[in-house]
Amino acid sequence: MYSKTAEFYDAIHSFKDYHTEAFLVQKLIRQHGNGGKRLLEGACGTGGHLKYFTDFQAEAFDLDPSMVEMARKNAPQAKVFVGDLADFELDKQFDVILCLFSSIGYVQTLERLQATLNNFKRHLAPGGLILVEPWLTPQEFVVDPPAVHVREVMLRNIKVCRMHIPERRGNQSIIKFHYMIGTPQGIDFHQEEHVLGLFSPAEMQQAFTKAGLKAKFEPYSFMARGVWIAHHG
Ligand SMILES: C[S@@+](CC[C@H](N)C(=O)[O-])C[C@H]1O[C@@H](n2cnc3c(N)ncnc32)[C@H](O)[C@@H]1O
Repeated sequence: MYSKTAEFYDAIHSFKDYHTEAFLVQKLIRQHGNGGKRLLEGACGTGGHLKYFTDFQAEAFDLDPSMVEMARKNAPQAKVFVGDLADFELDKQFDVILCLFSSIGYVQTLERLQATLNNFKRHLAPGGLILVEPWLTPQEFVVDPPAVHVREVMLRNIKVCRMHIPERRGNQSIIKFHYMIGTPQGIDFHQEEHVLGLFSPAEMQQAFTKAGLKAKFEPYSFMARGVWIAHHG
């Protein structure tokens, strides 16, 4: 997915304040958690948040091996491995399970959303806390009229321009990123397609409940897209 662009992921997302977000995540953990220190982050990307969770015994995974490699470098204190949200299997439980920056959308379907939340529940210690930052809802994801989205990054040795025109297939958002990446070694072009499920708040709530979790949505959290806060039901 990000295999060709993982090394530019941090540059492209330099608009995001991971430091402040990680601080606020930890505030939520203090407010809603059980005080335990075993933390698991699913779909951790390059470890943008993970590197700040130094007070925890942190483990994390991502589906993309290139992202895992980056996360290992960025967050050397954590144990990072390749895994899939819907079917990772660890023979331990965690006090905190995180899934941030809309990664949950990548499970694509309601069936895989359910499998993921069931899986989170199985790995959650008594009194433990799950935080899920959702992707856009079907109502929020707008493709009409079509619009070009552009992100440009000008760092010292890397210039990146990424464009896409959001598309929709039923309740899935299709993001076809077109990249031009310039480094002193040359200018490369890449394309990658991201498919994210669009889940309504009611579908999210139902999936948490079916997994045996009690969840509430906090729309005005630090994260632009709000956050689901869940515990054992
Ligand atoms: C938008 S990025 C967010 C990464 C990171 N959480 C952040 O805040 O920067 C989405 C991440 O989800 C990962 N991903 C996609 N599908 C996944 C799956 N089924 N299981 C685990 N990770 C997945 C991608 O490789 C990517 O790193």
